[in-house]
Amino acid sequence: MLGGTSGIGLATTEMLRDAGAEVIAASRRETDIDGVECVQVDVLDREGLHTLFEKHHGFDYLVNAATGGPRAIGPFLEMDLDGFQNSFAKLWGYVNSVRLGVPHISPQGAVVLYSGYPARKWRAGTLAIGSVGGSVEAFIRLAANEIAPVRINGVSPGLIDTPMSPLEGEAREEYYRAGSQGHLIARAGTSEEVASAAMFLLENEFVTGTIVDVDGGAICT
Ligand SMILES: NC(=O)c1ccc[n+]([C@@H]2O[C@H](COP(=O)([O-])OP(=O)(O)OC[C@H]3O[C@@H](n4cnc5c(N)ncnc54)[C@H](OP(=O)(O)O)[C@@H]3O)[C@@H](O)[C@H]2O)c1
Repeated sequence: MLGGTSGIGLATTEMLRDAGAEVIAASRRETDIDGVECVQVDVLDREGLHTLFEKHHGFDYLVNAATGGPRAIGPFLEMDLDGFQNSFAKLWGYVNSVRLGVPHISPQGAVVLYSGYPARKWRAGTLAIGSVGGSVEAFIRLAANEIAPVRINGVSPGLIDTPMSPLEGEAREEYYRAGSQGHLIARAGTSEEVASAAMFLLENEFVTGTIVDVDGGAICT
């Protein structure tokens, strides 16, 4: 479980653990999670990933929720282009993990990646992260053809209340209230609501190359 120590990734780690799986949660910072082996790996460090996968050769599931690094948000014509480019660290982390991880997954195995609703609901100010999410979704569909019988799917979260937002107190509440205004389910989602979609995609052996929206109907409006 890459990026498995916070937010959506942490909820996925805990759900897998509670379902009886032996889970390894990886991220850059040192962390402790009850009943889970935690390791420090940067998804942009290919050598580190290779060593991790080789050590656990024959594993069943690979889930990557790592954000990769800082993301650029705001008007495109005012955007720092290095920031835009750096937002793609998420894609490269996902690509690294699938390229280096799949040779070590069991043939019945499955991969889940997380895209995001900016790729599917086009709004001003989200061009960089929407482009990254769109690339992640194209990658999933194309990779499904190449890595079968290993399955690969994606979950597209809407606005989800996770530590990704540094805001606190009233400012945080207002951010999620304003951000979900007009959505069919007008609130931020929880990490657990997103993680349960990943569990479905891991367990259902007839699903590959698809994306599940968990966004409170955000893209319908
Ligand atoms: N929250 C939302 O509203 C939302 C909406 C749409 C899409 N998403 C997507 O959902 C996924 C999870 O987001 P989240 O909100 O749960 O984020 P989060 O709470 O910030 O957690 C991100 C996790 O990724 C790890 N990580 C980041 N960069 C890494 C790297 N280079 N190498 C290894 N681990 C790394 C972090 O740990 P370390 O910092 O210790 O490395 C942390 O465990 C992301 O792909 C995000 O783009 C989220």
